[in-house]
Amino acid sequence: MAGLRVAVLASGGGSNLQALLDHSGDPGAGFEVVLVISNKPDAGALARARRAGARVETIRGDGQDQERLLSLLAEAGADLVVLAGYLKLVPQEVVGAYRGRMINIHPALLPAFGGPGMYGHRVHEAVLASGARVSGPTVHVVDEIYDHGAVLAQWPVPVLRDDTAETLAARILEAEHRLLPAVVRAWAKCGSASALSLAAPSFVPSPSLPPTFDDALAG
Ligand code: GRF
Repeated sequence: MAGLRVAVLASGGGSNLQALLDHSGDPGAGFEVVLVISNKPDAGALARARRAGARVETIRGDGQDQERLLSLLAEAGADLVVLAGYLKLVPQEVVGAYRGRMINIHPALLPAFGGPGMYGHRVHEAVLASGARVSGPTVHVVDEIYDHGAVLAQWPVPVLRDDTAETLAARILEAEHRLLPAVVRAWAKCGSASALSLAAPSFVPSPSLPPTFDDALAG
């Protein structure tokens, strides 16, 4: 299929990868997941990729294998690199080579609740401790600083009074699974992050609010 060639880096269960795989190769989607890379040979993400028939590779992820990562991405002809739960810092050489063509999904509304050490349940615990009433995923361009590059899309998700980190994480993950494919589809149409920002400066897919938001307002 002709279209945007997407490489995904993932360290965990890969539910965001799955959301992309579910659209990959659809005639209307405009993109195809051509390579999935993990630093963990037993990552659920790799099992999902294999089931979908996508090419998989593993790297050490220790910052010493940037040459291998660069050559894997080049061989696959990746137009866009998506970090979907990738827990290692991407080497600077790779960020530089894919500047403006690498995006990350983070489970909070950046620039709040991001940065080094802010991953997994720590993010949601910090949100709960702050008393924030709204959280939600952010898709942003990757640069050399953790969770720092330009924000492309966010999806507001309510924080409910009786939330735990687990319940909040699960509600936000649902939104992630809609937001990430929407951004990649939009990227495939627009061709670049800057075109995407110009086309829709505060791009949020529509309908923008998950049903639980109405529940929160009613409550
Ligand atoms: C997601 O919450 C994502 O925002 C974060 O890592 C988690 C990955 O989950 N960067 P999964 O492996 O895609 O299920």
